[in-house]
Parts: sequence; structure tokens; C-alpha cells
Amino acid sequence: MASDTQSATENEQHTAPRATQAGASSSAAARRPATGPRWIVPAKVAVFIAAWYPLARIVLFGMTDRLGANPIEFITRSTGLWTLVFLCITLAVTPLRRLTGVAAFVRFRRMLGLYAFFYATLHFTTYIWFDKWFDVAAILKDIGKRPFITVGFAAFVLLIALAVTSPRAMVRKLGRRWQTLHRAIYAIAMLAILHFWWMKAGKHDLILPKIYGAIVVALLGWRVLVWLRERRRRLK
Ligand code: HEM
Repeated sequence: MASDTQSATENEQHTAPRATQAGASSSAAARRPATGPRWIVPAKVAVFIAAWYPLARIVLFGMTDRLGANPIEFITRSTGLWTLVFLCITLAVTPLRRLTGVAAFVRFRRMLGLYAFFYATLHFTTYIWFDKWFDVAAILKDIGKRPFITVGFAAFVLLIALAVTSPRAMVRKLGRRWQTLHRAIYAIAMLAILHFWWMKAGKHDLILPKIYGAIVVALLGWRVLVWLRERRRRLK
């Protein structure tokens, strides 16, 4: 999930056994995990655990009666915002990798993208189940009043496509098409900002949408600049 300017093959490349590169004679290299730098496994475990924080917070608040006067609204808003946060972190992986030169960062991308999908699913489920009780008429009436919901839905449908094609087997099966499909992450990020902006515009409270909008513009703008620079170099 969440491809970028680099290829799926690059993703695989970083999983190549390092021990082979260092030489079979090196016992230190032989002891090293075959999947990358030593810090990668504990770091991935730490990120995996930390990513449960938003859900744990909701559960804790629920158990201690701190979800406010409208708990459904609290959960919808919290899961929506965390979906956006995970989308931004996923999009930040490639710039971070390129700017620091730490190739192993790319190994976190799939997990972070799947967490964005996880929180989007909770967000969507809270809305159609606990807010609307699967009442199609009520949902359509709400969409009529608040069209930003359709934009969020479009982002969610694209996210489903990326989540379904995120396993390694799908990367291999789809080849180059996988990369093209996973560029949808850019459209998802823009739809998410539009969804957020539109919702908050109705409440005349655009501070957060502006902050997240600036983050997404910076993350996508960086890619455009890199693409233009590489294109210019190729044409020389
Ligand atoms: C990638 C997908 C999505 C993202 C990133 C996203 C993000 C957000 C964000 C950031 C908010 C505002 C939270 C706040 O006030 O702090 C929000 C609100 C909302 N979203 Fe989404 N959303 C997504 C998909 C959806 C979908 C699929 C639906 C329903 C079909 C939906 C329905 C809503 C509703 C109803 C609200 C307003 C809640 C309220 O007024 O209290 N969203 N969303």
C-alpha cells in the first residue's frame, strides 16, 4: 500500500539478505537478521504498538465517561483526524528516506498505510452504523445536506483498493500496474483535505484544514519538484 516515486522492486530490494552482501565469512553479518538493519524489527514493533494509541484513547475515554455529550461525534471526528494523520505520515516516508539516505524507512510504509485504512474503516463504520444505523434514506438525506461526506467516501473507496493490493503477492502479480494504482494515495490525500476543509468551512473553523492542507501540499509538492529535476536531468 501507499506506493511512491520509487518502485515496488525497490521495496523488495531492501529486504535482500544483508549477510550475503557482507560476505559469508563474517559471523557478525551472518547473525544479523536477513531482513535489514538491526534496529528495524524493534522499531517496527514500536510503531505497530504506538499506532494503536488513537483507538486505545477512544476505548479509555469510553470507559471513563470522557467522550463528551456526543460520543458518536467524538469517535467520528477522532478516527477521521487520525486517518488523515496516518495518510500524512505514510506520504512522509519517501521524502524522509531521500533526505536522510536511510533506505530502511521504506519498510514502514505498508504498515502505516494499512493503519490509515484501519482508522478510515473505523471512521466509516462509526458513521454508517452507530450514527445512521444503516438507514440508507437517512444517509442520503445527510449527504444532500453535507456533500463533503461523498468526498470522504470516494477517498475511502480508493483506500480499499490500495489495502486489498498491499500484500507482497499482489505487488508481484500486478508488476508495474501496482505502482500506477498506488499513486492513488496522492488523490486520496487531496480528497481527504477537501473532505475536511468542506466540513470545517461550514463551521467557519479552517485552522486545522489549513495546517493539514499545507502539510499535504508540501509532501506532494516535494514529489513534483523531484520529478521535474529528474526529468530535466534525463533530457540533458
Ligand atoms: C480517507 C478517508 C477519510 C478521511 C481522511 C476522513 C477525514 C475526516 C476528518 C479529518 C474529519 C473531521 C474531524 C474533525 O472534526 O476534527 C472528518 C469528518 C467526518 N467524516 Fe470523514 N474522512 C474520510 C472518509 C469518510 C467517509 C467514508 C465517511 C462516510 C461515508 C466520512 C464521514 C464523515 C463525517 C460524517 C464527518 C463529520 C463528523 C461530524 O460532523 O461530527 N468520512 N473526516
